Amino acid sequence: MELSTKAIYQTLQKITYPGEEKDIVATGMVQQIKIDGNKVSFTLTFKTDLDPHIATIQKQCIDFLEQEFHGIDVRNNITIRVLKKERPVTGLDKVKNIVGVASGKGGVGKSTIAVNLAVGLSKLGYKVGLLDADIYGPSLVHMMGLDGVVPGIRQENGKDVLIPVEKYGLKLMSIGFFVQPEQPLVWRGPMATSALKQIMLDPDWGVLDYLIIDMPPGTGDIHLTLVQSAPITGVLIVSTPQQVALADVVKGINMFRSQSINVPIIGLVENMAWFTPTELPNNRYYIFGRDKLQKIANDYQIPVVGQIPIVESIAADSDNGTPPAIKSDIVGQQFMELASNTHQLVEKRNKEFPPTKIVAINNT
Ligand SMILES: Nc1ncnc2c1ncn2[C@@H]1O[C@H](COP(=O)(O)OP(=O)(O)OP(=O)(O)O)[C@@H](O)[C@H]1O
Ligand SMILES: [Mg+2]
Repeated sequence: MELSTKAIYQTLQKITYPGEEKDIVATGMVQQIKIDGNKVSFTLTFKTDLDPHIATIQKQCIDFLEQEFHGIDVRNNITIRVLKKERPVTGLDKVKNIVGVASGKGGVGKSTIAVNLAVGLSKLGYKVGLLDADIYGPSLVHMMGLDGVVPGIRQENGKDVLIPVEKYGLKLMSIGFFVQPEQPLVWRGPMATSALKQIMLDPDWGVLDYLIIDMPPGTGDIHLTLVQSAPITGVLIVSTPQQVALADVVKGINMFRSQSINVPIIGLVENMAWFTPTELPNNRYYIFGRDKLQKIANDYQIPVVGQIPIVESIAADSDNGTPPAIKSDIVGQQFMELASNTHQLVEKRNKEFPPTKIVAINNT
């Protein structure tokens, strides 16, 4: 076909906007076609900048035109115009970094690491929130000594806004505030994901440097909901040195690096890295072996951000609702080191990579 405004319109008429019956020419999206030799430019107008089809339609235009007109120069000449710039308003809008604490396997100390990392960052002077996303097994309420506390709610523009509970300098939210501890949570998937969205997006988190998320163990639906609802800056993956846990670290790495999740892994945390008796705080017994997590870290080029020993006081303090990181003993210092390394790696990540985008929901 000869290159002409009419021929371009005809080619673009083959493209329809998803869900509409009319093609993109008939809906008036294509405007201002200009032809200058082989160079063709035009504008594509979308109603909002949140339109999920912008990139696809733009690509279709390029593909169709390049196929139809040999040697056409259009690839970089399509101007995208949006009628309205929109921003989803959620409680997370003023949160700078969202860091997930995950693990391939349950019971490796994810919640312990999440709580004490949050306390550590707060002690370093950052504004920190902590979200318990372990919908099926929330443990944050008990670990923060908040059993029986119920968060406040205020009305804003006809909407309920949850007020996070504050303790040890942190803003906290958990499904555990709304259920009885002994009540088993038997939820169908959609109920759990909708509860998670509510406790994540509805609270007024205010201005935060960090929101730390205690993720449920394993690799599942809740993880997908998280990345589809919030722009996660990155995750830490927690493991113990045991072989069974290490095998699941690789599963976790592969999940976060998979195309459907695609969230940067900030680092690995080795919990229960060695045993230290309370009365001999400088002794280290490597009861599960050593250096095996470091090998995975080397293989996958992910730094180990912290090593936390097994110490009786960590379990006891957590159970009493006083996070061990608030103390300044050796254990407290180890958590501070974890927090400060994490902060440095997050800064590095933010310099090297663009902000994470919320993963688009793909229903196909
Ligand atoms: N470094 C440690 N030293 C001693 N006890 C620890 C340590 N880390 C965790 N624990 C204890 O081990 C138990 C499990 O830890 P935690 O609840 O943090 O694991 P989790 O990975 O969040 O588990 P789940 O998968 O059930 O959510 C708790 O009783 C906790 O106090
Ligand atoms: Mg947990």
